[in-house]
Amino acid sequence: MKYRRVRGTKDILPQDSYKWLYIEDKIKNFANIHNYKYIKTPAFEVTDLFIRSIGDDTDIVSKEMYTFKDKGNNSLTLKPEMTAPVIRAYIEERLNQLASVIKLYYIDSLFRQERPQKGRLRQFHQYGFEIIGSSYPEADAEIIFLSYQLLRRFGIENMTVKVNSIGDRESRKKYLSILRESLEPQKKKLCKTCQIRFERNILRLFDCKEQSCQAILDEHAPRIIDYISKDDREHFDEVLRFIEKAGVECVIDHKLVRGLDYYTRTTFEITSNLLGAQDALCGGGRYDHLVEDLGGQPTPAVGVAGGIERLWIALEEIGKFPTDNKDFVYIASVGDDVKDFVINLIRELSENSISYEVDLLRRSLKAQMRDANKKGARFSIIVGNEELKKNMVVLKDMQEGIQELISVDSLIKILKEKLTT
Ligand code: HAM
Repeated sequence: MKYRRVRGTKDILPQDSYKWLYIEDKIKNFANIHNYKYIKTPAFEVTDLFIRSIGDDTDIVSKEMYTFKDKGNNSLTLKPEMTAPVIRAYIEERLNQLASVIKLYYIDSLFRQERPQKGRLRQFHQYGFEIIGSSYPEADAEIIFLSYQLLRRFGIENMTVKVNSIGDRESRKKYLSILRESLEPQKKKLCKTCQIRFERNILRLFDCKEQSCQAILDEHAPRIIDYISKDDREHFDEVLRFIEKAGVECVIDHKLVRGLDYYTRTTFEITSNLLGAQDALCGGGRYDHLVEDLGGQPTPAVGVAGGIERLWIALEEIGKFPTDNKDFVYIASVGDDVKDFVINLIRELSENSISYEVDLLRRSLKAQMRDANKKGARFSIIVGNEELKKNMVVLKDMQEGIQELISVDSLIKILKEKLTT
């Protein structure tokens, strides 16, 4: 084989693509019901957008971005996430003029050069919801509720909703200096990366995958929630109260800071034991300063994104994909002199939105019927010269094995009736 797909990428093949479309359709329908408007942004952006929003010391920016120079020597990056591009578009296109609160959703391809494993790809897909313009806990609660509800709609029950509050920037400053003090004596025991994180952006210690670093945090790190301001705490309590009322059970995860720098106050993730090591189905939180940081008017916002490949794994695990059955008719014909009739018939079926298959290999009638069976046709229309002279065709019910001679004039009407019952 001369060419293979790039490591960490995936083909969605015809035998499976209905699952992809099923997921997409359901998300679109769900977003539509909840009045979120679709947004699509370019595949790449200027690199600085991601550095500025996600943060220099995050894994995404420091290790995982696909960054390249174009012929004009501009540094561009394939988007590793959607929040920054959406906010860039919000500012650039003045979407604040559309409404004081704008609710957006997306389904898009993202790129991160991570070590590929189950549920972790280098090109992957996210669906996501963003509410831009509300600072109130109702908005956080709506996002968490929607995240949960969407997964429930797919039939997923095994999930844990983890929430935390990392406070606003001011109260976090206080926490970070206390965190530094508490961990100073342990600094040498941290892994190399964490020692750098300790100096540059200490909150990022929580992203470390090393067991030993996590154990140090468990033992020595104070809980962020104990240091957030009264306003932050009230906001968080309201979020918790609202989601509980909405029927979302959650647990507070004091170490959940999420791996991107733009979060303020609420952070959350929904994990599932259906997934294996990469167990986050979706994650998000509030990001009240991002619009301003990227050059817009101060505008609060909150959102979530979920991994489509992970959702796929979960649905496969619990057998919740529908089958790919579709009723269609197979046109089988013999001889050159019925060809014009067949072409006309195809046009009529198409105009009446009746799904069909037709032999394109000039096979024998027997081989065509075998093909019809193999493909799972609901009916076959057998077009023969003799019958056609009497303006008739044979209609065969492939499930019942019954065939009848019917007039060409009533064919469409009969098919329509049969296909709806
Ligand atoms: P994130 O946690 O980086 O957040 O990604 C969200 C979800 O995307 C994850 O929970 C996971 O399901 C999926 N995901 C991430 N990386 C991969 C990968 N390499 N392969 C497969 N799936 C993956 C964000 O991206 C934020 N922009 C979410 C957000 C929206 N926050 C506010 N609004």
